[in-house]
Amino acid sequence: MADYKFETKVIHAGVEPDPQTGAVMTPIYQTSTYAQESPGKHKGYEYSRGDNPTRNVLQTQLAALENGDHALVYSSGLASIDNVLNLLKSGDHVVAGDDLYGGTRRLFTRVAQNRGLTFSFTCLTDAEELERHMKPNTKLVWIESPTNPLLKVMDIRRAAEIAHKHGALLGVDNTFMSPYFQRPLELGADIVMHSMTKYMNGHSDVLMGCLVVKDQTPSWLGESLFAKLKFLQNSIGATPGPFDCFLVLRGLKTLAIRMDRHNANAMKVATFLESHPKVESVSYPGLPSHPNQALHASQSSGGGGMVTFVLKGGLPVAKKLLESLKLFAVAESLGGVESLIEHPAIMTHASVPVEVREELGISDGLIRISVGIEAADDLIADLDQALR
Ligand SMILES: Cc1ncc(COP(=O)(O)O)c(C=O)c1O
Repeated sequence: MADYKFETKVIHAGVEPDPQTGAVMTPIYQTSTYAQESPGKHKGYEYSRGDNPTRNVLQTQLAALENGDHALVYSSGLASIDNVLNLLKSGDHVVAGDDLYGGTRRLFTRVAQNRGLTFSFTCLTDAEELERHMKPNTKLVWIESPTNPLLKVMDIRRAAEIAHKHGALLGVDNTFMSPYFQRPLELGADIVMHSMTKYMNGHSDVLMGCLVVKDQTPSWLGESLFAKLKFLQNSIGATPGPFDCFLVLRGLKTLAIRMDRHNANAMKVATFLESHPKVESVSYPGLPSHPNQALHASQSSGGGGMVTFVLKGGLPVAKKLLESLKLFAVAESLGGVESLIEHPAIMTHASVPVEVREELGISDGLIRISVGIEAADDLIADLDQALR
């Protein structure tokens, strides 16, 4: 599949007609276990926590889309990050971007820290800042680019160079971009993660996560990264069911055309908001006003569908705006075909301590939009009436 374009891979990579029936679409192997001819003599499947044919097709497809060698899927995005953290041992150190999805930061500080891992959070828009935080026991650098919710951009190539110089792995949460716009493994990252709950599934009806890796054996791990992650996937057991894997396979078929539309609509919405007198500032990596637009363009091929902006007037005005919209649902999450709007300080990032939110700029006037694939004019008209 390596020679085919992305639009072809989302339809065909890993997907073969079912050998038994010729079914063109991947069957849902809704089974927890598999009959063995004699003890230990089986057809490659023993128990669905370890392997399931529907899940395997999805994993093959994901590896192709991110240009990796292997992919593994999990019952949520956070479960996939937790599997990465389980590569590490008590006493190991992680450097992470300061502006991360609130649930990721909560997993780091309130779960993994109790298991003896230590974390440094820092603004990595200047990659050299990363160098200053690397320690002899740093095993992992974890970033998002663009970040959630502020849409700050990190230099993925430079972060990989610095991480590798210190013997650490670089993990990139690529949820906001999808592999259609950005493929971190091609930029030097070691692990790509997605909350597939978002753009990859695209229809707001499944929770799922994935990790994609290239073949490699980090010296401190002492075995292949993929083999260790596969062991952890089965041992921890946060695997998705076959029906959800089928739904994500179906969603992926339209990833390319959905992302093009999300991107075009987000650019129009961001441009509209930027010109509005009630809006203080807009952050969208596709806008010329974004401080790292050039860096973003050097590592991605689109701005994506997420737009954040700061409203003048703070919390009361922000609440009024969210209550006045007709098309946008006020809801957490993102990346579905429908437009969503949310207030990070009260909703997705409520678990981030207030002093950290203040330091980062997650203010009471900050609003995050997941721009859907509806008609852009209708979305802008709705925002316009609500702003009035
Ligand atoms: C950037 C990012 N990473 C990770 C997650 C967590 O994924 P999940 O909700 O599928 O566990 C989210 C969820 O919003 C997210 O936005």
